[in-house]
Amino acid sequence: MVPWGPVLGALLVAIVGYLCLLRLLRQRRPQEPPLDKGSVPWLGHAMAFRKNMFEFLKHMRAKHGDVFTVQLGGQYFTFVMDPLSFGPILKDAQRKLDFVEYAEKLVLKVFGYHSGPGDHRMIHSASTKHLMGDGLEDLNKSMLDSLSLVILGSMGQSPDARSWREDGLFDFCYNALFKAGYLSLFGYTKDKQQDLLQAEEIFVQFRKFDRLFPRFVYSLLGPREWLEVGRLQRLFHKTLSVKHNLEKDGISNWISYMLQFLREQGVAPAMQDKFNFMMLWASQGNTGPTSFWALLFLLKHPEAMQALREEAAQVLGEARLEAGKSFNLEVSALHRTPVLDSVMEETLRLGAAPTLLRVVKSDNVLKMASGEEYRLRAGDIVALFPYLSVHMDPEIHPEPTAFKYDRFLNPNGSRKMDFYKAGKKVHHYTMPWGSGVSICPGRFLALSEMKLFVLLMIMHFDLELVDPDTPVPPVDPHRWGFGTTQPSYDVRFRYRLRSPE
Ligand code: HEM
Repeated sequence: MVPWGPVLGALLVAIVGYLCLLRLLRQRRPQEPPLDKGSVPWLGHAMAFRKNMFEFLKHMRAKHGDVFTVQLGGQYFTFVMDPLSFGPILKDAQRKLDFVEYAEKLVLKVFGYHSGPGDHRMIHSASTKHLMGDGLEDLNKSMLDSLSLVILGSMGQSPDARSWREDGLFDFCYNALFKAGYLSLFGYTKDKQQDLLQAEEIFVQFRKFDRLFPRFVYSLLGPREWLEVGRLQRLFHKTLSVKHNLEKDGISNWISYMLQFLREQGVAPAMQDKFNFMMLWASQGNTGPTSFWALLFLLKHPEAMQALREEAAQVLGEARLEAGKSFNLEVSALHRTPVLDSVMEETLRLGAAPTLLRVVKSDNVLKMASGEEYRLRAGDIVALFPYLSVHMDPEIHPEPTAFKYDRFLNPNGSRKMDFYKAGKKVHHYTMPWGSGVSICPGRFLALSEMKLFVLLMIMHFDLELVDPDTPVPPVDPHRWGFGTTQPSYDVRFRYRLRSPE
């Protein structure tokens, strides 16, 4: 009798060993991009990359030019840094690049969610239906009510709202946007006061998860942190459980539509809970931090604040808030705010730093705008990091690190969309939402929410930095590549409801 167990085991070890060795012994083939495996076997450059992706990629670009392949934890990533050459990657007419495969592995690890075959398409069609057009108008109204509830409380403005209050600007913005966004999308119960308390508690737990998130994705957590992440995952699955949906009013059509699809596909309720957690993360992880950067830039640039207040007064009239009432704002006015649009676009240029990843399905050739051709290898990952290669390119955006509130305005006040590099028009002149198949399906809602919040804050409140000379804090270097950046530390500010003139 042959002992099949040990034989099969040995065979498996040999195959895995052979495959690892192949990766380790990898050599650059003709026409492939420069290959930089780093000095540590298998890990390659993983440590430098995870420590500060922005600085690492700057260094690699200086060393190798606009296209290079680096080894990061046994996986090879080809970074393309020339924005004029993004077209073929983002359009991918030959379907040789795949977004879904990598994303599915990530969401399984982070949210415990097993993706189904139609999910990606379903999420985008739900978003086209309910996060744009008429669906968006409804959500904007709901968001205005939720922001009123969160900022003013369930009884409308409180008597002490006209005296100064102090807070951390990052915490204030993240807290307000999170709670209002969560309630608008996931619904209310009959008891709004209780809903507010629950939203506050979820925010506290969300921030714990958020802080661990980058190192969780990179598998760098210590044993206690692993346990903590597991606890948080279970807590979110429970809190967002679909079994509570019956008790809720006004769950957004966006969430209802997606859950109905999952039910029809026979997805178990426990897996739907995990889907909800994933959607909470996608919808609430970036709007708060982006709004923080927007308000901070406005506070540091009085000329921008003044231009915005003038536009707001022109478009919306005098800000009035009657005692005990919620904010009253014509949400359709959000379509007529070119200055605010430019402020938000500039904020996203400076604050949003996503990585776009595509798995190479089969060997193929990448044709650069310069005419050069590079061979891409099946199994590798093509990566774009537009923050460095586009947002910070001084040719496309002169003085790229400066906040210029009117950078995206033409002299006649219309939206500026013409940006150039090497005399050629750059199609992707900012990419805060990603692009192509994986473009953020919530981008229109995100913009409306953040615009509403900024408008309410600048129209109805006096705002000032506790220390007006405080510098804009540096970005937390561990968060490069994960959507909107976060500051290394918070900034204190004061706010009070404006008194009627
Ligand atoms: C400032 C706010 C936001 C920013 C900067 C942002 C950015 C992004 C980016 C860059 C991606 C693509 C990631 C990739 O290529 O892998 C993405 C995906 C996604 N975003 Fe957003 N987002 C924001 C707000 C929102 C909101 C408010 C929602 C929903 C209400 C939302 C829903 C989603 C979803 C569902 C995905 C995954 C789409 C897919 O699977 O293809 N996002 N977001």
